[in-house]
Amino acid sequence: MNNFTYCTPTKLIFGKNSIEQLPQVLAPLGKRVLLTYGGGSIKKIRLYDKIKTLLKDFEIFELGGIEPNPKYSPSVVDGVNICKRNKVDVVLAVGGGSVLDCSKAICAGALYDGEPWDLIVYKAKATKALPLVDVLTLAATGSEYDCGSVISRTETNDKTAYSDELLFPVASILDPQYTYSVSAKQTAAGTADAINHVIEQYFCDEHHAVTDGMCEAAIKSLMSSVKVALAHPDDYEARAELMVCCSLACNGIFAIGTVKSGWPCHAIEHALSGHYDITHGEGLAIITPVWMRHILNERTLPRFVSYGVNIYGIDKNLPPIKIAEKTICMTYDFFKSLGIPMSLREVGIDESRLSEMAHHIAVNEGLEKAWAPLNESDILQILKNAL
Ligand code: NZQ
Ligand code: ZN
Repeated sequence: MNNFTYCTPTKLIFGKNSIEQLPQVLAPLGKRVLLTYGGGSIKKIRLYDKIKTLLKDFEIFELGGIEPNPKYSPSVVDGVNICKRNKVDVVLAVGGGSVLDCSKAICAGALYDGEPWDLIVYKAKATKALPLVDVLTLAATGSEYDCGSVISRTETNDKTAYSDELLFPVASILDPQYTYSVSAKQTAAGTADAINHVIEQYFCDEHHAVTDGMCEAAIKSLMSSVKVALAHPDDYEARAELMVCCSLACNGIFAIGTVKSGWPCHAIEHALSGHYDITHGEGLAIITPVWMRHILNERTLPRFVSYGVNIYGIDKNLPPIKIAEKTICMTYDFFKSLGIPMSLREVGIDESRLSEMAHHIAVNEGLEKAWAPLNESDILQILKNAL
């Protein structure tokens, strides 16, 4: 097992009606609150009204309309300006990963004198950031329990993932009841995202019994809970399992003591949604089995065997290559069974920009150093095979 340092300072406040704790959580952080949210789902589920009532003693500024795959301009820029203009004390993000990610970039940009984009591309390092509290409404990215943020810049097709320990939320309020209204499409995509987060950590070097066990348990829970949630959107236990697994899947606990894999499927997917604005989890579901097929070889084979035997219960006495092939087919079939479109063409991507995207990924993502190294022509082949 490799040496590691692990720290997640975020307080998770989980459970039915945990929203009631919001005023006590915010009070020590200040009175002037920037409330951020997306395209309106929080109004439909009456969470917006609830929050306004709970926060009647606070001064609220608002930034609504944050887009899926949140954009630097206008969302981050507008949020930073509101904070600076009004001397905001704390940002309250209410929504899914996009609202949370955008809010993290706002928290950093608000206390930075230069162009906030410099922080996102590591041209500069923030020395302080506004505190962030969130109320999560979609189980998927794990942004509520990590310090990462993914921001897109439309004019350059950049979709950039960055992280900064200053950006861990102070507290995340997780009430599975607020996810009952998540559509079947987003429920499936969010679960595919979290499953891929675990896969990105499972297919690596220096894996060991503890991390394997956590990863396998999380994937099994995600796979069974999503089926229940799709059939019965208001099943509390299923939504709760999804929420907890998603929060844990991206905060590093499943990778303690391992060697980082390079997160190749994410590197590829971020280029897809940077260029075509597709749903992140759908892009991952399309890429994952294609990537698996591409990297299957004698060295990687044992990981496929343990994944297939422990996740899908494939007979361990079969020849290893058969187990691996079945594992890949079952991964594809599972995502498809959730109703996810399983080819690039189905999400509106044709061959015209594949080379451009492969080049973008090869230059920006460093996948030649991944657990299963990928150069530009490997990436292009994966994209072609995913069409
Ligand atoms: O905008 P609103 O109206 O809120 O609607 C959203 C949006 O249309 C809707 N939604 C959210 N909660 C809902 C709801 N609809 C009904 N009821 C509710 N309770 O769902 C749609 C998608 O929301 P979004 O926030 O975009 O989804 P998700 O949570 O999957 O976030 C995706 C973004 O996170 C990034 C992705 O790349 C993508 O940009 N990621 C962030 C990560 C991180 N910070 O650690 C890691 C991930 O790998 C990922 O890259
Ligand atoms: Zn993801």
